[in-house]
Amino acid sequence: MNVVTTIKQVREQVKVWRQAGYSIGLVPTMGFLHEGHQSLMAAAKKDNQKVIVTIFVNPIQFGPSEDLDSYPRDLERDKVACEQMGVDLIFHPTASEMYMPNFSSYVDVNNLTDALCGKRRPGHFKGVCTVVTKLFNITQPDRAYFGQKDAQQLAVIKRMVSDLNFDIDIIGCPIVREADGLAKSSRNSYLSESERKAAVCLYQAIECAKEMIKQGEKSVTVIKKAMDDVISNQPLAKIDYIEFVDLASLASINMLAKDSLCALAVYIGKTRLIDNFIYQQQ
Ligand code: PAJ
Repeated sequence: MNVVTTIKQVREQVKVWRQAGYSIGLVPTMGFLHEGHQSLMAAAKKDNQKVIVTIFVNPIQFGPSEDLDSYPRDLERDKVACEQMGVDLIFHPTASEMYMPNFSSYVDVNNLTDALCGKRRPGHFKGVCTVVTKLFNITQPDRAYFGQKDAQQLAVIKRMVSDLNFDIDIIGCPIVREADGLAKSSRNSYLSESERKAAVCLYQAIECAKEMIKQGEKSVTVIKKAMDDVISNQPLAKIDYIEFVDLASLASINMLAKDSLCALAVYIGKTRLIDNFIYQQQ
């Protein structure tokens, strides 16, 4: 496995692979890798002859009061995690390699970014789309892998790729969870022992909603109220949002319909966690 830090080094490697006719799978990450990231690498490994993982804590997708400086980083551990999965190349650039002093071009997807996390984190998806576009241009993959864990991010990237005619297949991968149901996340490392226990309330709320839906409940207000009760029962938790939206447009819905997305963001102490599930009517 090769670990490189410059765009030039990536381009040289990709050129060699392209000349040899190899297919390339890309897994963009911000590092501090866990089994969720590794599931994307496994999918990429299965579909492609070469796999590139990028590890870059992208400053432009963090708001001024967000956790850019404290975001967990451990490149040595990340290398082991990638090696285990048979990754061929890690691209780990510095911020100055990615953003020259006069950097002034951004990719902004409208509408889909108005709701959910886009509403609470202004500019976040502009930062994500810009860095993902750059990573696509640098690595020239056939396929790129994103987790359903970040459902809005996946929807936004798919729209961007379609709107801007990137010749790249975007593959969504299922949410990987801890044994108690908490979705794996690099930010789980912020949680104290008691917060970690409390964090399971996101999954409990999802399970509660799924059970109500199984029993035939279709009213978003009723389901949201029950989810709110589950989370509010947990003193360390503070709801940022619980929303039901149409999976394609991410527009708010009042009644559960075919292909709905339920997404939630909850503060556990100071740590903001997200989770979601998709309802697909048979
Ligand atoms: P990061 O949070 O490191 O996540 C990288 C990828 O791993 C994303 O596609 C995310 O959805 C996926 N992922 C994270 N936790 C997961 C889990 N529990 N199960 C399945 N997949 C999971 O998302 C980002 O980085 C950045 O915004 C990025 C796309 C790299 C742009 O900077």
